[in-house]
Amino acid sequence: MSNKYIGQATRRVDGRAKVTGQAKYAAEFQTEDLAYGVVVSSTIAKGKITAIDTSEALVLEGVIQVFTHNNVSGLAWFDKSYKDQDSPPGSPFRPLNGPEIKFSQQPIALVVAETFELASYAATLVKVDYETEGPVEVEIRDHLDKAFDPGKGKQGYKKPKNRGNFAKEFAKSDVRFETSYYHGAEHHNPMEMHASTVIYEADDHLTIYDKTQGVFNSQNYVTGIFGLSKKRVRIVSPFVGGAFGSGLRPQYQLFMATLAALELKRSVRVTLTRQQMFSFGHRPATLQKLSLGASQDGTLQALNHAAYSETSRFENYTETIVDWSGAMYKCDNVSYDYKLIAGDLYTPLDMRAPGAATGVYAIECAMDELAYKLRMDPVELRLKNYTEEDANQGKPYSSKELKACFQQGAEKFGWSKRNPEPRSLREGKTLIGWGMATGMWDAMFVPSRAKAFLSADGKLTVSSGTSDIGTGTYTIMTQIAAETLGMPMEQVTFKLGDSSLPLAYLEGGSATAASVGNAVRITCENIREKLLKLLSRTSYAPLADRPQEDLEFADGKIRLKADPEICISYSDILKQAGENYLEDTSTALPNMLKQMDYARNTHSAVFVEVRVDEDFGTVRVSRMVSAIAGGKILNPKTARSQILGGMVWGISKALEEESQVDSNFGRFMNHNYAEYHIPVNADIPAEMEVIFVEENDDVVNPMGIKGLGEIGVVGVTPAIVNAIFHATGKRIHELPVTLDKIIMEDLVVE
Ligand code: MOS
Repeated sequence: MSNKYIGQATRRVDGRAKVTGQAKYAAEFQTEDLAYGVVVSSTIAKGKITAIDTSEALVLEGVIQVFTHNNVSGLAWFDKSYKDQDSPPGSPFRPLNGPEIKFSQQPIALVVAETFELASYAATLVKVDYETEGPVEVEIRDHLDKAFDPGKGKQGYKKPKNRGNFAKEFAKSDVRFETSYYHGAEHHNPMEMHASTVIYEADDHLTIYDKTQGVFNSQNYVTGIFGLSKKRVRIVSPFVGGAFGSGLRPQYQLFMATLAALELKRSVRVTLTRQQMFSFGHRPATLQKLSLGASQDGTLQALNHAAYSETSRFENYTETIVDWSGAMYKCDNVSYDYKLIAGDLYTPLDMRAPGAATGVYAIECAMDELAYKLRMDPVELRLKNYTEEDANQGKPYSSKELKACFQQGAEKFGWSKRNPEPRSLREGKTLIGWGMATGMWDAMFVPSRAKAFLSADGKLTVSSGTSDIGTGTYTIMTQIAAETLGMPMEQVTFKLGDSSLPLAYLEGGSATAASVGNAVRITCENIREKLLKLLSRTSYAPLADRPQEDLEFADGKIRLKADPEICISYSDILKQAGENYLEDTSTALPNMLKQMDYARNTHSAVFVEVRVDEDFGTVRVSRMVSAIAGGKILNPKTARSQILGGMVWGISKALEEESQVDSNFGRFMNHNYAEYHIPVNADIPAEMEVIFVEENDDVVNPMGIKGLGEIGVVGVTPAIVNAIFHATGKRIHELPVTLDKIIMEDLVVE
């Protein structure tokens, strides 16, 4: 394959549409006679509604209806209908199903009016009486005695088998210690709030513009609950203003807008407020306990990783948290524990690198602690325990260029100049610290379909029902199609985000580039074959008899390699053969036989410099280098953006983000941008370097693509926590590392 497009730093094909406002998001699609729904949220976390009075709202001219559990019927009876592709085991929440309240901010009514403003005002007039049941339980650390084993959970999650004998070898280890790490909940904060615009057409045909990471998931959800055939429901989602996992499950605005549209036989839009964005999934609060035992030379002898994580009372959300420790390092005696604690909150939800962002944070901080106890360089300690196989699975990594990440990252950062002594670097009152950590994520491949359509005017349209949550899917798919079929990128259009397009899985797990990418390649290869067949019906028929290696597909033409002047354009092939178009729809399937013998992952090494004010405990990240082993890089520009975004989030996770929950009222208190801190430009260092090390891998998929959506965030947070230790001598065991934790008197220098 030549490299005219794949591997080239290419601007986003949708960039212009986005910056000029041409790109439309779910709440921006207009239709005549659109009604507006505003959700009323519960003010209690646990109990039931005893009375709900909508009369004051309904008397207002222009208020069309108020839907509550009292006037909704005809919905699906079974849990199965409310399940979606990302549901954990349990009973999914059913909006407006009854008077019971299971979490604070539970949606309890939808006010529909002629204008958004009127609906918003009328929503304030809905009077609700509750019977509160108490007390609420929302803080996992207060209820560790209720921790339970979730068993085999979501997508078959099962904690890995223990190996060796942890207890025995830990007791014998030269150096051993126990440590723990905790972080509270975090909420997804995409710029775009969740929204659904339901266009009602005759005979209950619905076109729904939904904010989602999976149009087919939303389609199944709507058709299941409302008993509609798939022919009647089309989900469209051409642009998504960030999601980070929040769009993996259909959220309740989709239910509400669809319900209202069907009941009123009218088009309806429901948009959640920023506060309501805190009323559904979140990264779960998790407490982790690790015990590490090592010999004097740094060899890990024993490792125990236990996690206690939060779930709701109605679903058991699980994450792959503890597994990473025993996969990242060579250690013969490993044990795991993973337990859930149910609370009076909504079910947690996948958030960028779910599980890894949590588990890798803990093991990578613990490894730094070990490095200090051994007086060993943290990179050296990691190299000492380096492994080419995932011992949980007993399989070698299909590729793992992590050593190159350590080497190139350290080189770029200047790691060799580091004095390991804590508090050894300062400029006046500013303590400077250098820290590092490793990151790891999965390289997934899920079956995906794509369609290619080449028209007689020489334009190619490729499509797949995947989504682009800002990751660059439009761009890389266009590159792959243009490369494969030998066409200028300007002649290629990629379409996505529509349930009428070929089936693709949820855009999650960093799987889309690899999965849909290979489907696009295959379907374009099939178009090449079809063009060759047509060639024999044209004036260039003799070319068709040439061996394929004599021919090339380039610039929208089939031409003779030896003499590019001898050529015919795709357009002329179609015209001369009397065809208006060529099309193909194909599926990319993982090569299971090839894959099953390997563990497939992305890896990274992150190096960070922090500057901590000695008096005030304020932390600034001043420099960061992230070296990524992420397989084939399709577009260094969008790839770098993905990693930069992850680095920003890693800073924010380490220093700023936390959803604080009130233990009396079971409510997230800082549910707004004033109090839920996310970084602004001034929080982000100017010097952020991204390195992609070369990594070839034909096991993961024929194109060697591993996906980059999530690896960028993993490893950043522990690197910062470790750098703060190096700067201050204070080991902070809880996120975010805010100044109060740093200046607290009782923190000891280790
Ligand atoms: Mo992601 S949490 O796989 O959208």
